[in-house]
Amino acid sequence: MRTQVAIVGAGPAGLMLGHLLQRAGIDTVVLEARSRPYIEQRVRAGVLEQGSVDLLVGAGVGDRLQREGLVHDGIELRFDRRGHRIDFPSLTQGRRITVYGQQEVVKDLVAARIASGAPLHFEVSDVRIAGVEGDSPSIRFRHAGGEETLACDFIAGCDGFHGVCRGVIPASVLTVHERTYPFAWLGILANAAPAHDELIYAHHERGFALFSMRSPTVTRLYLQVPPDEEAHAWSDDRIWAELRRRFQGEDGWAPHEGPVLEKGVTGMRSFVAEPMRFGRLFLLGDAAHIVPPTGAKGMNLALGDARVLAEALQAFYGSGDKEGLDGYSERALARVWRAEHFSWWMTSMLHRFPGDDSFHHRLQMSQLRYVVASRAAATSLAENYVGWQG
Ligand code: FAD
Ligand code: PHB
Repeated sequence: MRTQVAIVGAGPAGLMLGHLLQRAGIDTVVLEARSRPYIEQRVRAGVLEQGSVDLLVGAGVGDRLQREGLVHDGIELRFDRRGHRIDFPSLTQGRRITVYGQQEVVKDLVAARIASGAPLHFEVSDVRIAGVEGDSPSIRFRHAGGEETLACDFIAGCDGFHGVCRGVIPASVLTVHERTYPFAWLGILANAAPAHDELIYAHHERGFALFSMRSPTVTRLYLQVPPDEEAHAWSDDRIWAELRRRFQGEDGWAPHEGPVLEKGVTGMRSFVAEPMRFGRLFLLGDAAHIVPPTGAKGMNLALGDARVLAEALQAFYGSGDKEGLDGYSERALARVWRAEHFSWWMTSMLHRFPGDDSFHHRLQMSQLRYVVASRAAATSLAENYVGWQG
């Protein structure tokens, strides 16, 4: 088997890269460890920056997104028992965000790939990468009971944080920058109409809470919990009671309650591995970097990496121009580090840290009050949230 670009992993990064390259007439093969139903049902991120929406629409995979995505003009920060709105369009020359589940993006990209007839192999195992330092890399893997070898020009490592691609880069070449946070998020999906039409980020003495949504009938909610918390320690009644407490304010607002469809705990981590290229291997998305979800950046960074690498590969195959490939890591990392800072900052401002003292708490409150009172501070939050274009 031979292709031009072998893509490991069918998350947002791998599927988007495959789609952009296929449209440009560059051959790709996508290898995915899980089954199609598994990747199409995995509940994860939900917020698309304007730039991500433009990318999906521009690439011809935005029809359902434009029909079903929920366009939001702002978010609410809730503290001191009151809601404080940050308006995006007026602070960012008309930019907005769209709420559309990651698994919907994945479904749309899988459908487009299957319709195009381009190869996408599910349930592959034992993926082994060779030759990335030379001119003819290859991937060996198991699929449908047989052993296969895929020869290629380049390998795109889009296999997430726990994938195999990052491990191919020698430790002497790779620098890792990392923070883990002393808390996690318990997330639920509930069959209940959203009780508000924008996201609500709540700072509360009992811990952070977030109100989000997936559709006009499905609410998504998160609670800050201890880092090693088990989801089954939280009955539905306990979750709703805690959510009511953390969102409680003078206006009496509370999320609508309904049957809990899904429950899970997500750890919080910041992580960057540099450089994002080694020889003919390129890393994209969570394979190279992780952000805590507070800034809603994870899926957007994965899609952004795919755009940057697709442009570089198009230039290379079109005219032999290697500049984009050589500059890939630096270009991608500039955007990654902006999102790393923003996600760390939002996380630091909104969560309770174990052992917090009164000094830390006063700083948080002062920062929150400043962000909603100062146009300059609100603009900084808004332009990062909708996606900094720098
Ligand atoms: P992934 O989506 O992880 O895709 C990688 C793919 O590679 C997977 O399909 C995996 O099965 C496959 N794979 C792995 N190893 C191999 C292998 N050896 N061979 C072949 N295939 C392989 N971000 C937010 O902004 N908000 C959130 O609320 C949020 N919640 C999250 C909850 C969870 C549980 C997780 C894990 C992440 C969450 N994120 C969230 C982050 C966001 O979902 C990711 O940033 C995004 O999925 C990154 O896309 P990706 O394509 O880089 O990686
Ligand atoms: C979500 O809807 O899942 C979501 C929204 C905003 C975030 C994180 C997650 O910051």
